[in-house]
Amino acid sequence: MHIEDHPVLGKQLQAPVKFYFNGQEYKAYKQQTVAAALIANGIKKFGLSRKLVQSRGLFCSRGRCCSCYMTVNGEDHVRTCMTRIDEGMIVSPNLEDPVIRSDRDGD
Ligand code: FES
Repeated sequence: MHIEDHPVLGKQLQAPVKFYFNGQEYKAYKQQTVAAALIANGIKKFGLSRKLVQSRGLFCSRGRCCSCYMTVNGEDHVRTCMTRIDEGMIVSPNLEDPVIRSDRDGD
């Protein structure tokens, strides 16, 4: 659900964009963060926790925790609550550690 005409703030969402989550196309607005766009489209599970393998989602909504980390346009661990959505963005859930960590010597 998108609040397109807020009673106090007025019409805020006027630049529609498309983005992709798990290969499926969704609608959002340029003024939204990636996390807000996902929530507005009914997606609440952003990934899995490393240790207990439990669902992660939006928690602080202000860039202070790491609950909303996702892979955006191939970049791992992006704070989606602080990142604006853009046309054609490809968003994937963080389901495991990034590949780069297992490639390093000594890890
Ligand atoms: S929800 Fe806490 S950093 Fe995004």
